[in-house]
Amino acid sequence: MKEFKRTLVTAALPYANGGVHIGHLAGVYVPADIYTRYLRLQGRPVLFVCGSDEHGVPITIRARKEGITPQQVVDRYHNIIKKSFAEFGISFDIYSRTTSETHRQTASEFFRTLYEKGEFVEQESEQYYDEEAKTFLADRYITGECPHCHNPQAYGDQCEKCGRDLSPTELINPKSAISGSAPVLKKTKHWFLPLDKHQSWLSQWILSDHKEWRSNVYGQCKSWLDMDLHPRAVTRDLDWGIPVPVEGAEGKVLYVWFDAPIGYISNTREILPDTWQTWWKDQETRLVHFIGKDNIVFHCIVFPAMLKAEGSYILPDNVPANEFLNLEDDKISTSRGWAVWLDEYLCEFPGKQDVLRYVLTANAPETKDNNFTWRDFQARNNNELVAVYGNFVNRALVLTHKYYEGRVPAMGCLTEMDQAVIAEFQGVKAELERLLENFRFRDAQKEAMNLARIGNKYLADSEPWKVVKTDPERVKTILNLSLQLVANLSIAFEPFLPFSSQRLRTMLGMTSVEWNRLGEINLLEEGKQLAKPELLFEKIEDSAVEAQVQKLQDMKAKSEVAAWKPEPVKADIAFEDFEKLDIRTAEVTACEKVKKADKLLCLTLNDGTDTPRTIVSGIAQHYKPEELIGKTICFIANLPPRKLRGIESQGMVLSVQNPDGTLSVITTDRKAQTGSPVV
Ligand code: 2FM
Ligand code: ZN
Repeated sequence: MKEFKRTLVTAALPYANGGVHIGHLAGVYVPADIYTRYLRLQGRPVLFVCGSDEHGVPITIRARKEGITPQQVVDRYHNIIKKSFAEFGISFDIYSRTTSETHRQTASEFFRTLYEKGEFVEQESEQYYDEEAKTFLADRYITGECPHCHNPQAYGDQCEKCGRDLSPTELINPKSAISGSAPVLKKTKHWFLPLDKHQSWLSQWILSDHKEWRSNVYGQCKSWLDMDLHPRAVTRDLDWGIPVPVEGAEGKVLYVWFDAPIGYISNTREILPDTWQTWWKDQETRLVHFIGKDNIVFHCIVFPAMLKAEGSYILPDNVPANEFLNLEDDKISTSRGWAVWLDEYLCEFPGKQDVLRYVLTANAPETKDNNFTWRDFQARNNNELVAVYGNFVNRALVLTHKYYEGRVPAMGCLTEMDQAVIAEFQGVKAELERLLENFRFRDAQKEAMNLARIGNKYLADSEPWKVVKTDPERVKTILNLSLQLVANLSIAFEPFLPFSSQRLRTMLGMTSVEWNRLGEINLLEEGKQLAKPELLFEKIEDSAVEAQVQKLQDMKAKSEVAAWKPEPVKADIAFEDFEKLDIRTAEVTACEKVKKADKLLCLTLNDGTDTPRTIVSGIAQHYKPEELIGKTICFIANLPPRKLRGIESQGMVLSVQNPDGTLSVITTDRKAQTGSPVV
């Protein structure tokens, strides 16, 4: 493998129209941070660059909804996002934004260079235009009926009901989301990056020269390349973004996916105005992009084509994209409220940044989608961080305080058991390096935890609390070695759990941390005074995680209600058809569950006649039988009888179906005579 002089690490620029949730952290920012911290610990030159992605249509939509400017939207979220990253120890060298002046200048220059080199093709096409608002409409700003599922509220780029990708001209009866008027098709000119011209070298570069890329990344690139690449528009008709810096482009801006990756360059330029080019143009720089799987095509195909077309830039050496993290077996969805937000997590679990970092790395979606559950969060905290790592550290420190007033005792002769433990520790450095160099952070963290397990077992097997009575000299060696192992753990865990590692080093009085000393057993000199031990991790109780699951369910229900819209009205019917329905009131005189049927209740009704009426209804998951007894309900009396689980059901109880799927039986408002018609 080629040795590089320096590494430039980028993490996907998050859109500044919402906060950061655990999916973002697990997919991009924690792995990028682990990798960067590891390189820094080794003393290798590295720069870690990120910032907010502040252009694009969704930001303008949010601004319009809230009645504020797009700039106000991005100012708010830029600060929230930046704070969350800092709180979770994501150690960017710079976190800037794409509304900065440096970025505007860098992106404009980049576009001009490509323009002047003739790297774009200009094309006229017809796009929807709102004549009232006098503006072209982005796909998201056009709504209409989905041609597939007939959802009346489909967007010009996608139908959220059936999930199909759409183009605005496919919509039936399109409407502008700005003025509500019907848009017209109007000619407009745009600049396109002819990806088809780059197809050949891209195929060679990815499919032959980068076979080592993760299989999910390689596979996605291969399917794009197999399908043949097409020109992509890099400009848009929009009033929010970087103006297209050429004549005749008034009212047009750079497409957000053209300017966003240039943000990596601008942010490097902002922090290193004199030397940024070394990081971007010297072949001795290794460029690594950390992203989520939805960004693969932009980072592996579109951005490299832009860089190659410009001509003076290096290309990424690796793009370790992750798959997605699910939450409690369901897709994370900000609109449905199915997410764990970092700012809320920290309010509810103050000081527990490392616990979340640990759990997200342990479940990192490195090769396939993975799942976060609060139960697993609790189990990993209680059974691994507390019971293994924390327990070992605590026992070693407490015993040293108990027997030697907190001073590191002298190491004496080593037994076979000691030698074996030392050998295991010494092997870990190479293994951790192999895994980290290959972006296998999950396995690397497991390896670090294994060290703590070895330490724990060593203490359990050597039993210093017993040996102290018979051979106090031996105990000195056991504790010295245990403390050296603890010091090693503070190095091994530094990339993963930086807060706990720092606390541990404070307890040990270690002022520096060097990766190259990992595996040494003289990290703490004899006689060194240790600080009072504190617990590194604490147990998380059932009630805390149960509250989180409940919170998620509540949020989901709330957002479902908020997003709910009534179904379109069905086709008209003749009045005579309506009159055929015989709807009546009845009093529920008895009600019980139907045996071996989870969903069914059997109701006995007084319908005003002398004969009790029986109706079997699928409402058992929404009502306890006793809740219905005595109520006056409405039912359809003239349906033909039907046998359900051997019981003859003589009609249908009427219920309302709520947005969350629950049912509410229709009862009468005032006292009503049983058996009266509903009119
Ligand atoms: O998917 C996203 O969240 C984009 N904002 C990522 C941009 S990454 C880079 F190109 F800036
Ligand atoms: Zn649809």
